[in-house]
This record gives sequence, structure tokens and C-alpha cells, in this order.
Amino acid sequence: MTVKITFPQGFLWGAATASYQIEGAWNEDGKGESIWDRFSHTPGKISDGSTGDVACDHYHRWKQDLDLMAELGLQAYRFSIAWSRVVPKGRGNVNEAGLDFYDRLVDGLLTRGIAPFVTLYHWDLPQALQDEEGWPVRSTAEAFVDYANVVSARLGDRVKHWITHNEPWVAAFLGHGMGIHAPGVQDFQQAVAAAHHLLLSHGWAAPVIRANSQNADVGITLNLTDVVPASPSPMDYRAAREMDGFLNRWFLDPIFGRRYPADAIEWFEQVHGVQVNVMQEGDMDVIAAPIDFLGVNYYTRTVARDSSPDNLPRTIITDDAEFTEMGWEVAPRSLFHLLNRLHFDYQPANIFITENGAAFPDKVCKEGHVHDDRRLAYLKEHFKAAHDAIQCGAPLRGYFVWSLMDNFEWSFGYTKRFGVVYVDYETQQRIVKESGKWYSQVIAQNGFED
Ligand code: FCB
Repeated sequence: MTVKITFPQGFLWGAATASYQIEGAWNEDGKGESIWDRFSHTPGKISDGSTGDVACDHYHRWKQDLDLMAELGLQAYRFSIAWSRVVPKGRGNVNEAGLDFYDRLVDGLLTRGIAPFVTLYHWDLPQALQDEEGWPVRSTAEAFVDYANVVSARLGDRVKHWITHNEPWVAAFLGHGMGIHAPGVQDFQQAVAAAHHLLLSHGWAAPVIRANSQNADVGITLNLTDVVPASPSPMDYRAAREMDGFLNRWFLDPIFGRRYPADAIEWFEQVHGVQVNVMQEGDMDVIAAPIDFLGVNYYTRTVARDSSPDNLPRTIITDDAEFTEMGWEVAPRSLFHLLNRLHFDYQPANIFITENGAAFPDKVCKEGHVHDDRRLAYLKEHFKAAHDAIQCGAPLRGYFVWSLMDNFEWSFGYTKRFGVVYVDYETQQRIVKESGKWYSQVIAQNGFED
């Protein structure tokens, strides 16, 4: 028996991208260098030795990309602004040509009936600010507010959805703790400072954006996960609690006015030898600035296991699991749990899934199609989970697939394809994958048959 799954009226269906991953034109029309330009140009940092110098060449092909979005029937498009295209040195001089690019993009979206969701920071800090220590220092947060002011003053009449930051956890901890993302620093003390200044800059920027953009909705996007213990042992439960503090609550709690969680502060001290002492008076109130929506990026759940040798039993609950090309477990029910948890524990007024999707090894067949059945199945199961959470009352207002098209997947270069549109990087040809065609029908019907 088939069941028709229908989303609430007005549910917004979209797709997401990020500047460094698609734009290319890394040094054109006055753009300054970013930390991702520097990082990808450093030998050994990107697994396939590639860079974002050209990427999907979206900077030049934006019109045809917008036409493609219209063809798919997208109702919203989430993209990010390259700070160093607008303010090449991070602070000071504004590059009008850079602003013009985004201005045209916004007009092009609106002409096609697509709502722009702008992310101000998706990890590409101007290198000039990194040269002054970057996010671990407070002055970077101040520079971010000036930049947010410039962009929202210019686009705020037409852009009504603003996301200050994308995944500050990743920017802080992969960039400054583990060093596998730009700027490639390995120092947890700096990572915690970076996380704090990212959050602080969010809190400072929110009212500035609102002042420039009447009736705008301002939010922040976090990478969130459902942490489950690997076994019923008390030690794995404790490990799960710790991971939840590190991955989820470290950001959720302060944004929702609860300050940094005490257990996680202790964990940072004990496990990483980090003193959490970077906050100044009043900071936590700034960070708790009210948000209009929470952006949720969800890809997979996290199975937590205690590392001590005496932690028995070792029941592994992921044995029959399916994994994507990233090695991430396909775990749609965890999206359901996560959305409910956010709704019950934090009560955001509105939630958008600002990213969700999967990388699989796609191939173009002889007839020129891309039969990405596994991605289609992934999306369908996650839509069901999202729909179920809405039935439980989660205030989920929209969904953005990651990604509109295959692109530069950070330290993995071009080896991971996340798009619902395939990109042939030699010719820059775009081919809508089967999942993209299906997604387009879902949008048209505001749901699907299961
Ligand atoms: C998220 C990033 C996005 C993309 C996906 C796969 O962490 O926000 O840019 O790389 O992962």
C-alpha cells in the first residue's frame, strides 16, 4: 500500500551551496585571498591535490545555474558570501565588484521566484585576518560585525533570511583543534577561543543585520548529531554524554541562553588540558541574542564508545549499517530523534534543515544519466523522518539539500560528490541526477508517495 506524505503548506524546499566550494574565480575582480585559498594551495592539505581556484566556475556561470534551480522548481537557495570578495583584507576597504556579484545573484533569484538564504560565513576567512591570528582573537569577531553590516546594508532590502555562521563547531575544531581544515592549527586552546569568538560575532551581528534588513529572520546553522552509546555499558553512556556536550550542547546551550555546559567545560579541561577562560563579562548574554530560526545541518548519527580497555560489553550496534562515501552511517531515524530533542529541550521558534545529503560514487551512464538510487533513498528516508518530527510538533519550516551540485568537498577535494546535479569538472557540464529529478517532483507535490 502506498501512503502519500504531504508536508505542511508553505514548507520551503531548497538547495544549499557555499562560496568556496562552487565559485572559483579565487583572485578575480578584486577578491582577496582567503584561508581556504591559502590552505588548498599548500601541498599535502587536500587529498586529491586540488584547489577551489575554479571549482564549479559558478562565479561565471551563475546565470545558467540559476536557470537550473528554476527548472528544478527550487523555492529557496542557500548560498554563502565570500567575505574576502566583499572586504578583501577582512576589514576596511569594500570591493564594490564583489558586492555587485551577490547583488546580481539575489536579483536573479528573486526574478525566478527563489528565496535567497544568505550565509555570511561558511569558513573562508580573509587571509589578512588570519595573519592577525584569526578567530582565536576577539578583533576578528569585531571585523565580522563590520562585514555583516556592509553586506546586510546592501542586500537587506531583498534578502529576508540571514544565517550568521555555518557550523562553528567545524570552523573551530576541525580548523584549529584537529587542523584538517583551514587554517590548519592543532591546538584545542585556540579552538575553544575560536568557537567563542565565532559565537560572539554571531550575537553581535544579529541586531546589526536586523537593523539593516526590515522584518528579516536571523539565525545560525549548527552541525548537529544524535549521539548514541555503542553498548549499554555505563562507560559508553558516559562517553555519549561527553560527545553530546562537545558536539551539540557546546553551541546549543549558549545560543539558547544556558551558557557553556559545566560538564563540557570540565571535559575540555580534563581531556584536552584546555582552560575555558576566554569569555569576558557580558559575552554570554550577547551570544544568547534571540534568533528567529535554528539552522540544522544533519548528516549522520554519532556512536560513542568509551576508549578504556575494560569497557565491556562491546556490542556494536552499527553492524548492518549502510555507509556513504564519506564513511558516514545512513541514520535517518536519528534525524527524527534530533529534531524532537531540539524541539523539546530548546524550543526554537523555527527550524530549517539547512543541509542534509550524501556522497556516493556517481557515474554518468552511456545514455548520459546519473542513476544515484542510493542518494534518492537517503533523501526519501530523511524526508520521512523530518515529516514524522513535524507530526510530533517540531517547528520545521523548510529543507535544503546539500548540495545543489557536486563541488569542492574541503579536504577531500573533488573526490566526494554530494550534488543532486552532477558536475563534469573538465567541461563544467551540469547533469541533473535521478535524485534531482525526483526531488523536483517532491517539491512540485510538496510531498511524495511512499
Ligand atoms: C558540511 C559543510 C558543507 C559540506 C557538507 C558535506 O559540514 O557545511 O560545506 O561540506 O558538510
